[in-house]
Amino acid sequence: MGSAILSVRNVTKRFGGLVAVNRMSMDVRSNEMLGLIGPNGAGKTTLFNCITGVYKPDEGRVFFEGREITGLPPHVVVKRGIARTWQKVRPFKKMTVLDAVTVGALLKIPSVESAKERAREVLEFVGFPKEKFARLGSEITLIEHKLVDLARALATGPKLLLLDEVAAGLRPHEMDTLAKVLLRIRDELGVTMVIVEHVMRFVMNLSERIIVMHEGVKIAEGTPKEVASDPRVIEAYLGTKPV
Ligand SMILES: Nc1ncnc2c1ncn2[C@@H]1O[C@H](COP(=O)(O)OP(=O)(O)OP(=O)(O)O)[C@@H](O)[C@H]1O
Ligand SMILES: [Mg+2]
Repeated sequence: MGSAILSVRNVTKRFGGLVAVNRMSMDVRSNEMLGLIGPNGAGKTTLFNCITGVYKPDEGRVFFEGREITGLPPHVVVKRGIARTWQKVRPFKKMTVLDAVTVGALLKIPSVESAKERAREVLEFVGFPKEKFARLGSEITLIEHKLVDLARALATGPKLLLLDEVAAGLRPHEMDTLAKVLLRIRDELGVTMVIVEHVMRFVMNLSERIIVMHEGVKIAEGTPKEVASDPRVIEAYLGTKPV
């Protein structure tokens, strides 16, 4: 398996007659930032769901740090060291920011006080403003929500972080802030990342390597420059709504 932290082998996931992910294979190398792109409906989120145990793949296998994790339930996958953020911001209207992140920390730390301390640390690490730790989910902005979601994932102490459209809806300067946070997570915490993203400037700048999916299948893999000039990739994007 070489230096791959995650290996996906021939994973297929069907919804009725629709093959959302079709014999997909990929390796994620330890400590890299891998971009996973593709037009709407390509199967990116479904692949994340197959890795994190939200769905059990119909076929294929998933290995993390050389051990098989295929079909394990989400809480077990998190404990092994894979965390994810969600494409749709999941509001926690009636919970405070600190409590929302503490819930993540409690997966690994049994004491509430220590989990709270860990939550404060990760919130500070991602640059969430300290004076807003006690705010409710209904009282914070979109970028703040994204930082909380990121902190909640980090609080579980992951080795691999799967990011599903973290940059969507953000203003350019907010994306720059977020990109710096992601680089610090990789460089200072040693966390490997897979970045699913439609915002090309964001994902192309951050990723050393890009995998492109289309209709459940991997159609290209290479450096950002290589995939951007790949005719199959251009055709896949032109065939759908432009991004
Ligand atoms: N729970 C589900 N039930 C039925 N079909 C689903 C389900 N989840 C996803 N699909 C279908 O599977 C295909 C892949 O969807 P998926 O959400 O994985 O794509 P995606 O690459 O994440 O797209 P986007 O960029 O729009 O988020 C789509 O055709 C979608 O409609
Ligand atoms: Mg998606």
